[in-house]
Amino acid sequence: MQVIKTIDEMRQARKASKKSLGFVPTMGYLHEGHLSLVRKAKDDNKLVAVSIFVNPTQFGPKEDFKNYPRDTERDLAMLKPLTDYVFMPSDEEMYPASYDTWVDVKGVTDVLEGSARPGHFRGVSTVVLKLFNIVEPTRAYFGQKDAQQVAVINKMVKDLNMNLKVITCPTLREPDGLAMSSRNTYLTPEQRRASPVLYQALNLAKELASQGEWDAVAIRKEMTKLIQKENIADIEYISIADNETLKEIHRIKYPALVSMAVKFGRTRLIDNMVLDK
Ligand code: PAF
Repeated sequence: MQVIKTIDEMRQARKASKKSLGFVPTMGYLHEGHLSLVRKAKDDNKLVAVSIFVNPTQFGPKEDFKNYPRDTERDLAMLKPLTDYVFMPSDEEMYPASYDTWVDVKGVTDVLEGSARPGHFRGVSTVVLKLFNIVEPTRAYFGQKDAQQVAVINKMVKDLNMNLKVITCPTLREPDGLAMSSRNTYLTPEQRRASPVLYQALNLAKELASQGEWDAVAIRKEMTKLIQKENIADIEYISIADNETLKEIHRIKYPALVSMAVKFGRTRLIDNMVLDK
């Protein structure tokens, strides 16, 4: 495994081989969810590259950029058996003082996480485009856990005619259903105990729809009631939307994306499930 810290070095490594390369962009503090993406990249490609870069431009001024969990040594040990290249650029090289170019995917970013976190997806699409340009992957791997991020990246790749394939991989969950996330480490024991209620609410939506409940408002109401049984859970939004446009729907039409953001104290968790036939 080669640990690469500059853009030039990464370019040279990529140029040295024309083999297929699977790329997993991450912000580090890796967990099994990330490793499942890396394993899939390894299965599908001859080479694997993982980036570790806590991207400052996707955090809002009141968000956790400075305190975002970091443990490079542990990350590298986890990646060693699975990865050919780990790309860890500096903030200064990715965003020099003169930096002035942004990728702004419209439409699909107006709702959900986009409206809750203004500027977030501009930061995500900009850094992902930069990383794609540097790493030149054959395929790039993202988790379904960040469903809107996947929709934004897919739109960017399509609209900008980018020459790579985006692969979406299923959300990995803890045994009690909590979706794996680097931010789970922020949860207090009491918040962690209550947090599986998100997955329970998604399953409730699935069950209601499969029993023939077509009214999205009614489903949202039942989900809200269930989550509110945990009185430390503070719902930011529950959405039932078209899986591609992410526009809210009133009647269930498959495939539909049920998604939510719920705060436990200062920790904001997101989760989702696609309802399909
Ligand atoms: O999903 C993430 O960890 C980040 O948004 C990504 C894709 C690595 C871009 O910084």
